[in-house]
Parts: sequence; C-alpha cells; structure tokens
Amino acid sequence: MRKKITVIGAGHVGASCAVRIADKELADVVLVDIVEGVPQGKGLDILEACPVEGSDVSVVGTNSYEETKDSDIVIMTAGFPRKPGMSRDDLLWKNYEIVKSCVEQAAKYSPNAFLILVTNPLDAMCHVALKVSKFPKNRVIGMAGILDTARFRTFLAQALDVSVESIVAFVLGGHGDSMVPLVRYTSVAGIPVADLLDQETIDKIVERTRFGGGEIVKYLKTGSAYYAPSSAAVEMAESILKDKKKVLPCAAYLQGEYGIQDLFVGVPVKLGANGIEKIYELKLSDEEKAALQKSASAVKELVDVMRPKLDEL
Ligand code: APR
Repeated sequence: MRKKITVIGAGHVGASCAVRIADKELADVVLVDIVEGVPQGKGLDILEACPVEGSDVSVVGTNSYEETKDSDIVIMTAGFPRKPGMSRDDLLWKNYEIVKSCVEQAAKYSPNAFLILVTNPLDAMCHVALKVSKFPKNRVIGMAGILDTARFRTFLAQALDVSVESIVAFVLGGHGDSMVPLVRYTSVAGIPVADLLDQETIDKIVERTRFGGGEIVKYLKTGSAYYAPSSAAVEMAESILKDKKKVLPCAAYLQGEYGIQDLFVGVPVKLGANGIEKIYELKLSDEEKAALQKSASAVKELVDVMRPKLDEL
C-alpha cells in the first residue's frame, strides 16, 4: 500500500510540496486548505500532471480533515507568509491560531503521523504543534536547517564554481536572523571551506545566508520563498518514509542537548522510520556556543510570549 502524506495549506509552499511529492511518486497526497475550491483545483491539476510525470499516486484536495485519516506524514504549511519589512516573529500570533487549529484536527485523524512544520516563526510553531498534538518529540520536526543550509551551499558553490552536491555544510540555531552557519563544519567534499575561500568572502556568504529568506521576500514583495522550502520539507518526508536515516539539520525539541532546555532549535538529526532517531551534539567552539545560545534565546523569547496560552493546552 502506498504511503499517505497530508499537506496542510494549499498556498505557495503547500502546493509546491504536493507537486514534489507527486513527481517523486513518494506517497498519495491530501491537500487541505481553508479556502473552498483552491485545494480541490490545485490537487486535480497536480493529479493531471501525473501521467506525464509517470507517477501513480493519488492527489486530492479538500477542506475537511476526514480525508487526511491515517496519514503517515503531515506537512504543516498553512499560515501567513512574511511581507516586506515584517520579521518572522511578527507572524507569531497570526500563525499561532492557525497552527493550533490545524494540528489539533490533523493529530485527531492521524494519531501516528510525523509532523513536519514549515509555518513561521518556525521554531515557535513547532512548540505549539508539540503541545497541541501531544505527540512524542521524535515525531514533531521543523523544516528550517535544510533550507538555510541549501542557501549556504548555493552561495558557496557559486563562489567556488563547484557542484552544489560537493558542498557539505551545517547551519544551526533558530530559523531567524540569528541562525548559525557553521563554517568550521563546512567543506567541499571534505576540504575545509576556509582553505579555499578568504575570510571576507566567507563572511559575506554567511551574512547573505542569514538574510536569505528576506532577500527573496524583497524580490517577491507579496510573499516569501516556496520552491526551496518545499524541496527541504519533502527531503525530510522522504528520509522518514524510506527510512534513509539521512543526517540533516532540522528543528528538534532539545531537552538538555547543547545546554538548551525545552526548546526547538535547529541541530543535526538522523531522520528515519522513527522520525528523529538521534540528535548529534557537535563539539562547538566558545564563539559558536555563544552564537547558538543567542539564537536559542531568540526562540525562547517567542515561546515565553506564548507561554500563558501554551500552559492552557
Ligand atoms: N487552515 C487551512 N489552511 C489555511 C488556514 C487554516 N486555518 N489558514 C490559512 N490557510 C491557508 C491559506 O488559505 C493559504 O492557501 O494557508 C495557505 C498559505 O499559503 P500562502 O499564503 O501562499 O503562504 P506560503 O508562501 O505557502 O507560506 C506558508 O510557510 O514558509 C512559511 O512563512 C511561511 O508561514 C508561512 C507558510
């Protein structure tokens, strides 16, 4: 029997996820949105591409959660995207209510699913999803690190004129401007990047990576990135469904790892059939540790704002 993925939100990110899942023939897709007609129309359109793509999956769009029943994975993308001048954090309250109601429904119909969160502000929304679903922490995972790392890898590959596939990199921390691209753990097929690029170039690339999301928002004016985010979310789903055990930077609920308590922060994890199967604790320098703590504090600030509401859940 084919696997089943529910994608909540049939907007830019959600529809792109559905296309990628269908094109890869990864699973049947149920696309859910609050707007009538949109998920049905986009779902049918994606389904009608399957004969051309050579993919035998079913894709349906719906406004109700009944059809999501017994999904293996739920990818949560519903919510408002960032507008120009808006930080991810401004989105907090707008998206809190959306994540709460959608995850409540999804968890009810698919109590054994893995939840992949995409809605921003990402790390804080993961916290909401964990509390609302009451799922174990290995089944609630945030998509951010793969995207941030993909941006870092893109810019490094451009600067070095090498294949993007040869760049191995890690970006840690929250999915915000305080994220921590780890230069020391970044290599070109094992060659440390610091041996190949001067510090000034590396610094510029690190800075561009930090504001990579904002760069796209500035161009698009009415929304935020969706092609690369959907690629990242689907890579996570694939690693889980195929039990590939890829080691990927994802937002995971930390309980003491890296000295961080009860917060979602981006760290390297092993993603397999049991979701997060391992959290890798890298040996960080004092400077890197401080940067990670600063990034975690930015996540904590948002969680603290939501605390009274979270405590009621
Ligand atoms: N239930 C279901 N769908 C909803 C709900 C809800 N309660 N509220 C909003 N939506 C839907 C909207 O109708 C819309 O189709 O979520 C979709 C969001 O799509 P876009 O506006 O295109 O936003 P998108 O670019 O996909 O970004 C979604 O992902 O990357 C993050 O920051 C981004 O938080 C944002 C999210």
